[in-house]
Amino acid sequence: MNFDNFILVKHPLISHKLTFIRDEKTSKKEFKELVDEVAMLMAYEITRDFPLEEVTIKTPICETKSNILSGKKVALVPILRAGLGMVDGILKLIPSARVGHIGLYRDEKTLKPVSYYFKIPSDTDNREFILIDPMLATGGSASAAVDMLKKAGAKSIKFMCLIAAPEGVEKLCSSHPDVKVYAAALDEKLNEKGYIVPGLGDAGDRLFGTK
Ligand code: PRP
Ligand code: URA
Repeated sequence: MNFDNFILVKHPLISHKLTFIRDEKTSKKEFKELVDEVAMLMAYEITRDFPLEEVTIKTPICETKSNILSGKKVALVPILRAGLGMVDGILKLIPSARVGHIGLYRDEKTLKPVSYYFKIPSDTDNREFILIDPMLATGGSASAAVDMLKKAGAKSIKFMCLIAAPEGVEKLCSSHPDVKVYAAALDEKLNEKGYIVPGLGDAGDRLFGTK
């Protein structure tokens, strides 16, 4: 995809785990574990540009200079429900991150997002927001969630998903060129019901065992 703000995160471990996430034979328990693991691996890539500052410490041997993170504090924001499945994996790498929540679901007929909940940390100026959702399909939910974050004062936002459709990348990247969009896979297309092909099915249902 030809957008400067779209980043396909490529890694053999991610590709391998994504295959089992896609497979319909994968159990609910394994699905959740794999989603967490891929989220953690992606967090490694997404935090690559975080700034560092030098501090002086004393090891048991001598005094030395070493680096610590110096930028904004992180706020993770899962889009409910399916985004919840990626939170624990990312928190393993960034345990101090605050966690906000945006409740959105896609109306089955119109495919438009319907909002039902919004709660994020209030110090929006000082936070790097990482919005998470396994699926970027039409892009309606992600674009609406970014709109809501910006309206609440967020200045720095990244979006992270497991699987993106070209239609969703187009919508999100063009409506929010200042937001970096990370995906572990870019799939072929959407089907007539707005599901990603080949995709993984309904992420929320597979995570929570609903149907
Ligand atoms: C899914 C998914 C995204 C949205 C993507 O959620 O988790 O939030 O659809 O579709 P879009 O890009 O076309 O907006 P869903 O609406 O099924 O809600 P759920 O997470 O509560 O199951
Ligand atoms: N939401 C999902 O959970 N899966 C899709 O393929 C599209 C939207």
